[in-house]
Amino acid sequence: MDTNKVAVITGGASGIGRATALKFASKGAQVVVADFNEQAGTQTVEMINENGGQAIFVKTDVSKFEEVEALVEQAVAAFGKIDVMFNNAGIGRITPVLDQDLRDYHSVINVNQHGVVHGIIAAGKKMRELGTKGVIINTASVFGFLASPGTFAYHASKGAVIMMTKSAALELAPYGIRVLAVAPGAVDTPIIQGYKDQGMVDAMKAKVIGNKLTTPEQVADSVYLLSLEEASAINGSVVMADEGYASFK
Ligand code: NAI
Repeated sequence: MDTNKVAVITGGASGIGRATALKFASKGAQVVVADFNEQAGTQTVEMINENGGQAIFVKTDVSKFEEVEALVEQAVAAFGKIDVMFNNAGIGRITPVLDQDLRDYHSVINVNQHGVVHGIIAAGKKMRELGTKGVIINTASVFGFLASPGTFAYHASKGAVIMMTKSAALELAPYGIRVLAVAPGAVDTPIIQGYKDQGMVDAMKAKVIGNKLTTPEQVADSVYLLSLEEASAINGSVVMADEGYASFK
């Protein structure tokens, strides 16, 4: 990666987002860490800057369009442009569909689906305005393809991310902007704590080749590869970063 790239990473306070922020910084990118968790997001920035990298934190609730617009403005004010927008912030809830509080349903959609909508529109407009041939990468999931009990809202949100990725790729292509998604499987981050609490981790591991959880760093490596110009043929695609989770029974 050229050392003058700018990457904005939502959900950068934890898990896959933090690992991706560290990965891009290690490759010389200037990184904007966005999250609504200010303390942990600031820690990510400190980890980068203490190692000679360049990062800033912007407190952002991705479910609010005006906050994502402000994030994009602050990224450009700090570093002049945006080359990579990683729409990654997400939440999960485990509730049987018929017992679900609809507020929970909407909160998952507001973050996982609308957060991605906001990132595509705000970053896409800014890239178009500045003439940046950038890349927008969205975090989908194997759960955008495969149903599992108790995660109705999550499936709805990730299924939407997959189709929004394809649709936006088509519309942003004339500006030289690629849009793609990465679909992790079972990654060892705080978001799977509910599964850990229910003693379901062994079942998750059994879905992954090698009977293990994928590390956030492995997903970060995949995101980084997709961002490179050498990946220019990969556009509108949902790339499985799942170590086989969705490929085998
Ligand atoms: P995580 O819980 O470690 O990180 C999620 C981050 O998103 C947290 O820092 C959280 O503060 C932030 N966030 C949540 N709501 C937000 C909001 N409204 N505005 C801004 N930031 C917000 O979880 P993980 O695993 O790193 O999740 C990252 C993405 O990966 C999510 O989209 C998740 O759905 C997806 N994913 C994770 C898998 C896993 O097994 N861990 C599998 C497939 C997809």
